[in-house]
Amino acid sequence: MPKPIGIFDSGVGGTSIWKEVAKMLPNENTIYLADSANAPYGEKSKEEILRLSIKNTEYLLSSGCKIIVVACNTATTNAIDYLRSHYDVPFIGIEPAIKPAALQTKTKKVGVLATKGTLSSSLFHNTSKLFADGITVLEQEGKGLVELIETGEIDSPEMRNLLVTFLNPMLEENIDCLVLGCTHYPYLIPILKEILPSNVNIIDSGEAVARQTKTVLEQNNLLTKVNDNPEHLFYTNTDVKVLKDLVNDPTAQVSSMDF
Ligand code: SIN
Repeated sequence: MPKPIGIFDSGVGGTSIWKEVAKMLPNENTIYLADSANAPYGEKSKEEILRLSIKNTEYLLSSGCKIIVVACNTATTNAIDYLRSHYDVPFIGIEPAIKPAALQTKTKKVGVLATKGTLSSSLFHNTSKLFADGITVLEQEGKGLVELIETGEIDSPEMRNLLVTFLNPMLEENIDCLVLGCTHYPYLIPILKEILPSNVNIIDSGEAVARQTKTVLEQNNLLTKVNDNPEHLFYTNTDVKVLKDLVNDPTAQVSSMDF
């Protein structure tokens, strides 16, 4: 049985990354951990985010994973350096897509919607400084969005009100790119498209992360070339319903357990 790719997130949002990974790497087995009992990570201290990231990593390693995708911006920006320096497997992280936004923007104004934990991290600030020279980056904390997505309230009046409140100040500043800095947020793209004017591009990192995962597997001779029946195991430490609905894939085996 080929060793699986391990993926973890503070909850259900990282399934947006799993979908891209499964599409680009159709022969790979995967194990996904949704740490929904501890969501959102974005409101927690760096120490707590690190502790939870270590817990998830150790579970995935004990299940034989050959590479780990940290499918959570908050865990990436706060814990990936530690994980890379303490474990032998390769780690793929999710960084807000500031670089493609900086290359695309014509108004030189880019909005970033992310959690408090991501926006306050040094990795986020270093990325902004490195790639957004001459560009104004307008940061907005998406307070409350992850909680609503975790309960399946994606297209609710409360969600729409929050998004309008968060986006209006950026639109007044004339952004033409909106970076989704949290893996939960791609599930909001249909509503965002209704709220945003058509000249605003929505940028998320899913496909780039899948491409990077493939590259790193190839570089490390870890790519699975043949697998007729890939296995996709999903574990959540809360109820399975929202996870199952969002994954929405007949090959996914979704269960609840403590980890
Ligand atoms: C959160 O748990 O607060 C959001 C996860 C993310 O940053 O991707």
